[in-house]
Amino acid sequence: MQHEFSLAYAQQLDSNDKLSHFREQFYAPYLQGKKAIYFLGNSLGLQPKKAQDEVKTIMEGWANFGVEGFFAGKDPWLNYQQKITPLLCDIIGAKKEELVTMNHLTVNLHLMMISFYQPTATRYKIICEAKAFPSDQYAFQSQVKLHGYDPEDAIIEVHPKEGTELITTEDILATIEAHKASVVLVLFGGVNYYTGQVFDIKAITAAAHKAGAYAGFDLAHAAGNIKLQLHDWQVDFACWCNYKYLNSGPGAIAGAFVHESHLSNEVLPRLEGWWGNDVANRFKMGDTFTPTPTAESWAMSTSPMMLLATHKASLAIFAAAGFNNLVAKSKMLSDYLFFVLNHINQAEEKFSIITPANPDERGCQVSFSVHKNAKAVFDALLPNGIFADWREPNVIRVAPVPLYNTFEEIYTFSVTVQKILKTP
Ligand SMILES: Cc1ncc(COP(=O)(O)O)c(C=O)c1O
Repeated sequence: MQHEFSLAYAQQLDSNDKLSHFREQFYAPYLQGKKAIYFLGNSLGLQPKKAQDEVKTIMEGWANFGVEGFFAGKDPWLNYQQKITPLLCDIIGAKKEELVTMNHLTVNLHLMMISFYQPTATRYKIICEAKAFPSDQYAFQSQVKLHGYDPEDAIIEVHPKEGTELITTEDILATIEAHKASVVLVLFGGVNYYTGQVFDIKAITAAAHKAGAYAGFDLAHAAGNIKLQLHDWQVDFACWCNYKYLNSGPGAIAGAFVHESHLSNEVLPRLEGWWGNDVANRFKMGDTFTPTPTAESWAMSTSPMMLLATHKASLAIFAAAGFNNLVAKSKMLSDYLFFVLNHINQAEEKFSIITPANPDERGCQVSFSVHKNAKAVFDALLPNGIFADWREPNVIRVAPVPLYNTFEEIYTFSVTVQKILKTP
């Protein structure tokens, strides 16, 4: 698409945007008395205005019915998960039986690895991306050690090509092939948190399976951001957090996916608790665990209702907007962001965009490394009314999201960066 570098053009894009009214459904921070430009949906999504009402409904149920709130009131708690799961199917590309909302991301990664990382003397390696999010690295290392292996030997990282920040699919597939006799699990991000690169989940999964390994994904930066088809791609498991693109609040309850083909696998090991027990037996207090015939059999503890309430408020907005519509707008936003950044950088190259230029290899997030005084450039953004994100040593990440960001904000951001870069 041919773009123009002007405020009027950006405003025209906004006036053509059929999703623009969803912005009003979120609270946004103010800076210097003005609504701030919030490009941090990849870190902590904004608060849906209805979240407080949903939490209030739970509080009222608790106040009015005590423990009977599980069964009584406007929104009984016992079947609450069943209201959430269908809202996630489109976003994750999953059947509702394959989804469970529980715990937090790192905890869920561990629970899934208990099931899907079952090393043997010959097959014990995990293949992952180099510079995976630190929590994932700690999870991989501790799981490997738990089984008595040495992380140095058992964890194989796929590195970016020399002189670039990006990892090619070719290199990932070649690494899986090279370790096909010893790999037991391929565990990648869906979108890399630093570069914003989208990994080819379908191809990675197929290669893992061909090598006789399971394929799992950390979708922290993918869920609610890019189009996913986990069921069709035959992904074995995935985990994500809901506080980023899914706007469910700080420390929000997380999500997990287990492919249908594993749901009735009785030999797959799993850590169990009463909340994974079939609801018909759950309160009979018997000593036998009868797994719920869905991914909910991985749930262990009583659902945290206040966390589910904020999650539900956000998912209702996604359902109203339509996930495909959001992805289409997201592509336009990031395309325009690429255009304005390239525009302000053309006379003298003051930064390099490290996110892939190919629209199929990125979501909302665009990361760029600033060549000189990077931290000072970043620090000047907030006083100019812009929330962005800093990553050492010199990377600024921005994520204009389709539910509440505008083309005008992208234009204003670029003009501000241009002004800051000109400041000696
Ligand atoms: C890619 C990735 N993995 C794991 C985590 C850790 O998530 P949690 O603190 O919810 O366990 C994050 C947090 O931002 C993340 O971005």
